[in-house]
Amino acid sequence: MYLSQTILPLTILAAAAVRASVLDATPDAAANNVTAPSITGRNCSEFYITVDVSAETEKLNVTAPANQFELTDLVTTLASVNVPMQSLSTGTVQLNATYKIWSQLCVPTGFTANGTLEFAIHGINFDHSYWSFDGPGSKYNYVDAALKAGHAIFTYDRLGVGRSSKPNGITEVQISTEIAIAAALVDKVKQKLQFKNIVGIGHSFGSIQLTRIANKYGNLFHGMVLTGFSTNTQGLPATTAGFGLEIASQQNPLRFGSLSTSYLATGGIVNDQQLFFYAPNTKLRVLQLTENTKATLTIGELLIQNPVAAPTYTNPVYIVTGDRDFIFCGGNCSVSTNGSSDLLQPSKSLFPGVSDFSTYVAPNVGHGINQHENAPAVYEKMEQWIVQRFQ
Ligand SMILES: *[C@@H]1O[C@H](CO)[C@@H](O)[C@H](O)[C@H]1NC(C)=O
Ligand SMILES: *[C@@H]1O[C@H](CO)[C@@H](O)[C@H](O)[C@H]1NC(C)=O
Ligand SMILES: *[C@@H]1O[C@H](CO)[C@@H](O)[C@H](O)[C@H]1NC(C)=O
Ligand SMILES: *[C@@H]1O[C@H](CO)[C@@H](O)[C@H](O)[C@H]1NC(C)=O
Ligand SMILES: *[C@@H]1O[C@H](CO)[C@@H](O)[C@H](O)[C@H]1NC(C)=O
Ligand SMILES: *[C@@H]1O[C@H](CO)[C@@H](O)[C@H](O)[C@H]1NC(C)=O
Ligand SMILES: *[C@@H]1O[C@H](CO)[C@@H](O)[C@H](O)[C@H]1NC(C)=O
Repeated sequence: MYLSQTILPLTILAAAAVRASVLDATPDAAANNVTAPSITGRNCSEFYITVDVSAETEKLNVTAPANQFELTDLVTTLASVNVPMQSLSTGTVQLNATYKIWSQLCVPTGFTANGTLEFAIHGINFDHSYWSFDGPGSKYNYVDAALKAGHAIFTYDRLGVGRSSKPNGITEVQISTEIAIAAALVDKVKQKLQFKNIVGIGHSFGSIQLTRIANKYGNLFHGMVLTGFSTNTQGLPATTAGFGLEIASQQNPLRFGSLSTSYLATGGIVNDQQLFFYAPNTKLRVLQLTENTKATLTIGELLIQNPVAAPTYTNPVYIVTGDRDFIFCGGNCSVSTNGSSDLLQPSKSLFPGVSDFSTYVAPNVGHGINQHENAPAVYEKMEQWIVQRFQ
């Protein structure tokens, strides 16, 4: 999603650590189900992974909103430009917890132990299906593109989303917990599949997580592709307001009824379009599907989402963002600034140890890259970048 440097100027050295390694959960009915047998050339399995996480989380001085009136007041303060926001963090606290994370591993036929695994982290307002949007065979399906390029791909529902655990949305569902989970999942997938290189792929809040994973775990990934991302914050206040955030359980009792009031959702399809779509290059059907399948975010995620620099990370980085990204470029990434030709280049400052750094401004694309008509062309750029470096 967006950056909160101006909201919470935290110099978080998220001291999240994975305590015990991960264990296989007691799988549910879908566990190890070889899905989509009609599609040749792939083997996808779905399973829950149980992760024991130990993370240094922020003590946030907020409570779950009693009602929409309270939530809207918080959002108004966060979106204001002339009201200096007090840091809501009053320190850190050690969190030890166990979560169930819904995961999917897809492996192309002929994959060998020297192959490349893509490890994909979705952003806010989506679940894992951001990466397989519109199902197998769809032009919007990134998993298909990765498999076609010969790569295995691991996707999952982040904590608090989809079929994964939904703990406290203020004290637990925070970025430091989530990067500890991601690192644990990397360990786990190594037990499930032999591969040579692992490339982290992020979208939006998932890309922000990649910067923090690189900060904390160094070269955990052999390469990283950060999509829907930049370090530009111009669009931040309009984005905070533009979400039209509502208490998820009250907005959609059918889908979100069991969630605490610390779980939020975009106001509706109008908000989804404004922040995620460049309409002339999208289809109304795709926007409707996005709204119908949208996921929640939590107050803990809303308050802490700034990327951090990763001085010990030295592997290749590729930033891929739509030129019309409203959230990360204020609607136009093709602005030259401080000697760079676009708003993506300055992200290099997060990666001082990286020599192989490049960017791609995707034409006519908004923030939800996978929802745009030229998604296949963007996927080709991404897969080419990976193939050139890792096979
Ligand atoms: C396995 O996947 C197939 C195809 O998606 C589905 O029809 C079936 O119900 C699944 N079986 C289980 C046990 O989840
Ligand atoms: C598909 O993957 C699962 C889980 O990794 C494995 O148990 C199964 O043998 C594979 N099936 C085929 C046909 O390769
Ligand atoms: C928490 O916020 C309240 C106002 O909402 C303030 O009065 C209180 O001092 C804050 N607590 C800390 C520890 O900062
Ligand atoms: C969390 O786990 C760590 C390491 O296992 C331990 O040192 C710490 O005391 C635990 N903290 C809490 C609050 O349980
Ligand atoms: C990758 O593994 C396959 C099968 O084991 C082997 O034929 C191929 O030579 C290997 N390629 C490289 C680049 O090591
Ligand atoms: C984006 O900004 C550049 C530089 O100011 C400008 O040339 C270009 O026309 C802008 N694009 C749009 C769509 O406004
Ligand atoms: C350009 O650089 C100046 C000085 O370092 C900085 O204050 C400013 O935010 C930069 N502008 C952009 C758009 O990054």
